[in-house]
Amino acid sequence: MQDKIRKHIADIETFTCQSAEELEKFRIHYLGKKGILAELFSAFKNVSPESRKETGQLLNELKDAANGCITRMKESLGKPGQGSEDAIDLTLPVDDSIGSRHPLSITRNRITEIFSRIGFSVEEGPEIESDRYNFGALNFPVNHPARDMQDTFFIEKDPDILLRTHTSSVQIRYMEKHPPPIRSIFPGRVFRNEAISARAHCIFHQVEGLAVDKDVSFADLKQTLLYFAREMFGPQTQIRLRPSFFPFTEPSAELDISCNICGGKGCNICKHTGWVEILGCGMVHPIVLENCGIDSQKNTGYAFGMGIERIAMLKYLVRDIRLYFENDIRFLKQFGSAF
Ligand code: PHE
Repeated sequence: MQDKIRKHIADIETFTCQSAEELEKFRIHYLGKKGILAELFSAFKNVSPESRKETGQLLNELKDAANGCITRMKESLGKPGQGSEDAIDLTLPVDDSIGSRHPLSITRNRITEIFSRIGFSVEEGPEIESDRYNFGALNFPVNHPARDMQDTFFIEKDPDILLRTHTSSVQIRYMEKHPPPIRSIFPGRVFRNEAISARAHCIFHQVEGLAVDKDVSFADLKQTLLYFAREMFGPQTQIRLRPSFFPFTEPSAELDISCNICGGKGCNICKHTGWVEILGCGMVHPIVLENCGIDSQKNTGYAFGMGIERIAMLKYLVRDIRLYFENDIRFLKQFGSAF
């Protein structure tokens, strides 16, 4: 009897099936009222006292093996793509939700639309860059901390190749190929070697702006940014420029807008200052123009760069940058938009 039981256990271990019907047959065969286990248990009465203990243990093993096999098979049949018709529940209600654009796409489209309306073309550049386009031609000194391994993702075998840390690299590419007048924006993905938190991510998106022509002034920059801020955040929006530093612009500034959440009265989004920073900007450094073969005696230009995540955060009150990349349907569903 013990050998018989061992043989059944071995059979069960190699058993597989393709459908729920086959599995049900298996269940009846072993565990049904007139199944093998029932038969063995009734024969157990006649087992001699010396081998009762061992046979009893084996019988329990067989029962566990049969039950375990059924659970395993049910799981694998239930997995999609494994051909079980039973896995599709036809009684479930239809999911009639319509897809919607990602909040970052909505925001990028809105930004490009606002600038297109005043004559800016939309251009793109590569995400994998050389040191020259990301740093060198943008007037970053050789030992500038921004080139540090901590901020930039380099390709191990060739430190000249990197993932762009900002869209300013596209300024250089564009100016090399196009003589002034230039009026363009460059949206795209950028990469920085930063720890991921609610406020920072190693992948994010920027929109760069560039205008180069005869007599382009800081007043043009300021007026363009005022127009943008009011189109994006509403006609009541105020702006202020704070002096700043970027190697590729001189003078440089940071643009704050009056906090669109509290209207400038002070809240925890604007840290009770009434202002929130949205972008960096400045007049294109003459060295940068010359690096691209543009005569800096005859031409001047302005540039600005903003983070799309940041703009969308302020617009939609998103408190955690990680939400943009997690694809949580409950987050994404809130941005139903035709734009
Ligand atoms: N590239 C800068 C950054 O990523 C932003 C910037 C763009 C500043 C253009 C000035 C002019 O922070």
